[in-house]
Amino acid sequence: MRLSIGSDHAGFEQKQALAAYLRDAGHEVIDRGPDNDDRVDYPDFAVPVARDVAEGAVERGVLVCGTGIGMAMAADKVPGIRAANIITPQFAALCREHNDANLITLSGRFVSLEENERILDAFLSTDFAGGRHTGRVEKIMALD
Ligand code: RB5
Repeated sequence: MRLSIGSDHAGFEQKQALAAYLRDAGHEVIDRGPDNDDRVDYPDFAVPVARDVAEGAVERGVLVCGTGIGMAMAADKVPGIRAANIITPQFAALCREHNDANLITLSGRFVSLEENERILDAFLSTDFAGGRHTGRVEKIMALD
């Protein structure tokens, strides 16, 4: 799958490791930075990744900050984005099945690398269930 990834300073270390993990798994990964762990503002990295997804340059986006919360708030401001801040593999599957999430935000400070790898596995391997969920997602997107 084609993916775009980014972080802030708090998510930098896991962003580097997760990008390598995803490439090793056969995904094509665009890294929107940062290139080091100098202090930065997370919206500056959320928006390029969200735009990659919204414009169709990639299928899904991955953002990592301290909690994942600020990244989700910023990414969801970009029309076309359904971002979910996820801390368990079960919720990663559910945000795909029920909400057709196209961008995931992760915590680099409170969730281990191994758990975030399991979360990404679930996020990338789970399909949207459609059916009764379709109209609900359409109502969300009508708010853009
Ligand atoms: C940075 O200190 C921290 O606020 C940021 O990484 C993120 O957790 C915000 O939601």
